[in-house]
Amino acid sequence: MERIRVGLIGVGRIATLHALAYKDSPDAELYAVCDANEQVARRRAEEWKATRWFTDYQQLLADPAVDAVEILTPHNLHAQITIAALEAGKYVSVQKPMAISVAECDAMIAAAKKSVKTMRVFENFRYYPACAKAKELLDSGAIGDALSIRMKVTMGRQGEWAPGRVIEAPIPTWRFDDRVSGGGRVALDYGFHIMALAIFFLGDVDKVFGWITYRPDQRGHILDSPAMIIWKYRDGERYGCWQVVNSDEIQVPTKYFAEDEWVEITGSKGFIWLNRCTASLLDRPVLVMQRDGVTTEYSNLDTDFGSSFVLGNRDWIRSILEGRQAPLSGEEGKIVTQFCRAAQLSAREHREVRLEEITA
Ligand SMILES: NC(=O)c1ccc[n+]([C@@H]2O[C@H](COP(=O)([O-])OP(=O)(O)OC[C@H]3O[C@@H](n4cnc5c(N)ncnc54)[C@H](O)[C@@H]3O)[C@@H](O)[C@H]2O)c1
Repeated sequence: MERIRVGLIGVGRIATLHALAYKDSPDAELYAVCDANEQVARRRAEEWKATRWFTDYQQLLADPAVDAVEILTPHNLHAQITIAALEAGKYVSVQKPMAISVAECDAMIAAAKKSVKTMRVFENFRYYPACAKAKELLDSGAIGDALSIRMKVTMGRQGEWAPGRVIEAPIPTWRFDDRVSGGGRVALDYGFHIMALAIFFLGDVDKVFGWITYRPDQRGHILDSPAMIIWKYRDGERYGCWQVVNSDEIQVPTKYFAEDEWVEITGSKGFIWLNRCTASLLDRPVLVMQRDGVTTEYSNLDTDFGSSFVLGNRDWIRSILEGRQAPLSGEEGKIVTQFCRAAQLSAREHREVRLEEITA
């Protein structure tokens, strides 16, 4: 394959960030798009100069010119389209969350094992330059042994926050419909990013405890927030926590989504602070490290959240050309799914839950 021909399935909101990766790419071409909504499919094909457009994903998969597909649909379709694409002999990248159940994750892993083509689950936060730099610092021992992690998410007021700024379009309503989204706008949908990052930074998780409150948000959707999730890592006496709160009146400066994240990692010799990710709520250097009384600020990193999509998709394309597995593998995606579901089960049953308990 000289240049990989990619098909995007589900070209709604997030597809606009995925499409950026193919602009001027020497390695890949955005060849086809598919959306159940014909107007959307036509419009995107025109906008991105795709050769073909479809409304039925089976027809896109039947096109032998398509080498690889990205699945960017509502969550209840991730497993079925991934399996069909692998059976059709395509490479697959599927947006988070991997699927809506662990049984579906298992079926996707089995389909990938049967295929000579690979599947990866796309989680973009790890490609955000400040997250990648934090991981590089941790792995180089810059703060000694990583001992604990504290993660925070704030979801702010949706819609226009300041005249003349790029505004956030409302989140699609299907994300609050449990049958389509899998249930858990925060714990599963958003949580997939946070749990994946918690594992990326400090390793495998053993067990989880969670408190999750269900409250209507500013548009009347029932949101699983505020929530507090705590966990124990498998390796050593090491703990992590994630606190999420929606503050309907907070104006979050953002080009993308009215929510932001920050992370503090304590090591045996110092600290790493990641001060933002999706938006730019905190007006501070994006990454700060403190060791031996010396504070180092990393101010020259690219802080555009959109770059994480470009970097993440280009890594996937390179992984195909180089014959390697891009993160997350199916097995890694399944563990993140178990982590999210374990937090929900814990909150329901008021007890700690081991990840292995989540089997279906
Ligand atoms: N930070 C992130 O990485 C991030 C942010 C937002 C969304 N997402 C994920 O991206 C995915 C899509 O979310 P979105 O916000 O773009 O949703 P969206 O509703 O804007 O887009 C989904 C599109 O899929 C289309 N679709 C539905 N059924 C289809 C079918 N059978 N065949 C083809 N197309 C079909 C819809 O018409 C729609 O245009 C989800 O997995 C979501 O969790 C990730």
